[in-house]
Order: sequence, then C-alpha cells, then structure tokens
Amino acid sequence: MKILFIGDIVASPGRSILKEYLPKLKSKYYPDVIIANAENASGGKGLNQKSYRELLDMGINIITMGNHTWDQKEIFDYIDEVDNITRPANFPQRTPGTGIVYKKIGSNILAVINLQGRTFLPAIDCPFTKVSEILEEAKKKTKFIFVDFHAEATSEKLALGWYLDGKVSAVVGTHTHVQTADERILPEGTAYISDVGMTGPLNGILGVEKEAVIKKFITGLPVRFEPATGSRQLSGVFIELDKNNGLAKNIKRIHINEMDNFFE
Ligand SMILES: [Fe+2]
Ligand SMILES: [Fe+2]
Repeated sequence: MKILFIGDIVASPGRSILKEYLPKLKSKYYPDVIIANAENASGGKGLNQKSYRELLDMGINIITMGNHTWDQKEIFDYIDEVDNITRPANFPQRTPGTGIVYKKIGSNILAVINLQGRTFLPAIDCPFTKVSEILEEAKKKTKFIFVDFHAEATSEKLALGWYLDGKVSAVVGTHTHVQTADERILPEGTAYISDVGMTGPLNGILGVEKEAVIKKFITGLPVRFEPATGSRQLSGVFIELDKNNGLAKNIKRIHINEMDNFFE
C-alpha cells in the first residue's frame, strides 16, 4: 500500500501549491491513498467547508487535524456528517468528531489515527494511553494503521514512535511546520518522522507574515497574525507498506521549494 501524506496545509498559498503539484506527485509516486493535515487550511486557522470541499476535489482522501481543529466554527456543522476527517483522539470525551477513520483501499482497510501531544500544548488526555485503547479495536479490523501525531516536542514524538514501533505502520509528526530530516524505519517496522513540515508560504515564519512575528518577539505586544504571501513550499512524505504484515518498507521525505526545480 502506497501512502502520500501532506504536512499542515496553510491558507490559500498551501491550497494553491497543492493543487498545482499534486498531479505531479501522483504521477511520480502512484499513491493508493492521500492523507493531509488541514488544521490550518482556511486562512491559517481551522478548516471551513469550502476548503474541505476544495481539498477533496484535489484528490485528498483523508484529513487529519490538530490544535486548530475548532478555529472555523462551521466545522461543528459538518464534522459529524463526514467519514474522512479525524481530529485528535485524545481530545476530551464528548467532543464532536472522531479520532480514527477507516478507508477501504482495494481489498484492504487503512485506519488513520490523529493524536495530539501535551508538551507546550493544552492539557488533554494522555496520547499514549488513548492510542493503546484505540489500537485494541483497530487491530481487529486491519494491520494497516497510520498515525499523525500532532505535537510540539521532538522528544514526545520520538517517544510515541518508539512506543508504537511494530504496532502500527507509520507515525508521522505534524504541527511544528518545519520538516525534520530524521525519517527512518524503526527496528520493528514502523515508518517514522518527527515532523513532515508545512505546505504553504515559503518566506514567512511557520506560514505567518514575518514582520508581525518579529514585532511580537521584540515588543511582546499583541499583533495580528496573517498568512504570508509570495513563494510557496510543499512538504510531505511517501510511505510504502508491506501488504503481508502492514509494516513499512520505505519512507521518503518530500520538500518542494517552488523556487527550486524539484521535478527536473
Ligand atoms: Fe499546523
Ligand atoms: Fe498545530
């Protein structure tokens, strides 16, 4: 099974570069399924229905979220009506949405789990305990299990990667918007990367206009964060799973800076 995962899509620059480059990525990697983190897809915060539709129209099959899940209020109107959005599973009980979705791919089923870290992020349920609970159910249905761990600290991400080594197909990190170069297959067969990086503005700070962020660091005053404009980047990973045991055979990091010639 071939999986293409796209890191945090930020605002219209993220959606537009994805629209432009996704056909090229498809003809390079022939993915069976495309998963994308879309917590910043609408104006940099959250996912409204229009952006959600736009991503599906491009060919995204499953969407994962994170700490910005609820920033576009209209998500409350549709998150429980759709079967292809997963928000962090360790959000408090009775929050709308689900932390795991299943997708049929040929004769197989892929489970996609979204979790959120607790280091430098709001206090929520334990992601380690929660994923163990979920896996008991998921394992009854499939051996193909993909985890997007939306977290700040590389230590917490590595800990979850090692904790799940051999138990899931892949653990990929999102949220920091900066791609790490530590992609590997762990000894028991789980594909791992600390952070996939961001799909959006190239010359901002984590996707935000740099002037506002610099002003905030210097003065500490409240500033308005707007998505940066201009050149763009696309970050992702391509992962190939063994059809016999669901474990990873290959993980490849993708980082497109549109100023370079990635496809030439
Ligand atoms: Fe993000
Ligand atoms: Fe985030």
